[in-house]
Amino acid sequence: MSGHTTLPEWLATDMERVENVLISTAGASTHPLVAEPSTHLIKAGGKRLRPALVLLSSQAGTPDAIATDLSAAALELVHLATLYHDDVIDETEVRRGAPTAHSKWGIEVAVLAGDYLFACGCGLGAQAGGEVPGILARAIAEVCEGQIVETGALGDPRRSIDDFLATIAGKTGALFRAACDLGAATSGVSGEERAALVEYGRQLGLAFQLVDDLLDLVGDPEVTGKSPGTDLREGVFTMAVLLACQRDESLCERLIAGEHDLDEILPTLRSTGALDDALEAAHSHARAAKAAIADLPPGRWHTAMDDIADTVIAQIPVLA
Ligand code: IPE
Ligand code: IPE
Ligand code: MG
Ligand code: MG
Repeated sequence: MSGHTTLPEWLATDMERVENVLISTAGASTHPLVAEPSTHLIKAGGKRLRPALVLLSSQAGTPDAIATDLSAAALELVHLATLYHDDVIDETEVRRGAPTAHSKWGIEVAVLAGDYLFACGCGLGAQAGGEVPGILARAIAEVCEGQIVETGALGDPRRSIDDFLATIAGKTGALFRAACDLGAATSGVSGEERAALVEYGRQLGLAFQLVDDLLDLVGDPEVTGKSPGTDLREGVFTMAVLLACQRDESLCERLIAGEHDLDEILPTLRSTGALDDALEAAHSHARAAKAAIADLPPGRWHTAMDDIADTVIAQIPVLA
């Protein structure tokens, strides 16, 4: 299984229920050419962070077990759908340590399986009812907005950091916010507590993508289950690269000239302090996530949410 497991042992039984819903929903088709690609990434692994956050946030209140489980599974299905499409867009060969759907079944099947998973997620959302379908629909729209805006900034090393952060708040932050919002909406917490949980999700989402972007530069593929250097190759210039470009004009010129070899670029990211500063930015969003929920009541769910914020950052190897 790719990625670190950051989830507490005591959540395992709840997560198993969600896992069963996931597999039975994504694998419901009697056509193997539908069921196999649609369950491929679920079986390959993954951290299940978003469904876990739905379950944990719900424990701030009194969860309606059925609606919470359905929401958790729905959100992971939506996340999976975005991964299928993202891998087609990024032309990547490996995800969760396994071949990507398009490299196994071709682009047509990968795109359609992604659509199928979106629909499966929306179906579970409709079954959960209440606010769930609306929260999912908004989150999906925000992910798409973020991904579309990102394509408009491809290959621009002079893009502002604010613009970059707004994009990742959409493409990644939206599902983390939705996770906490779904937990809150299916457990009847107060408006104030819900706002705190959603802010935790927003901040954690930013920290999470900043870390993912750093892992694309310095991560171990054995651990991440993905190929490093993908962002540079695709012209997605992430925070460390943008900061280094602000500090060293010659890097901008090299990138514009088409240089995208990680080994050539990494020394400049280190020497300008850009890698360290991007990691510090991730740290500060993780701290802000914990601060957002600091006034919520104590409980093992609360400790687990603090721990998740810490372990997201701890994925980064020593940068020296
Ligand atoms: C990958 O998310 C997509 C990003 C937002 C970077 P995860 O790192 O949570 O992927 P899985 O679910 O564990 O495979
Ligand atoms: C994409 O970000 C986030 C999504 C909406 C899927 P990345 O392109 O960095 O995600 P990975 O690294 O492929 O998982
Ligand atoms: Mg990608
Ligand atoms: Mg990435």
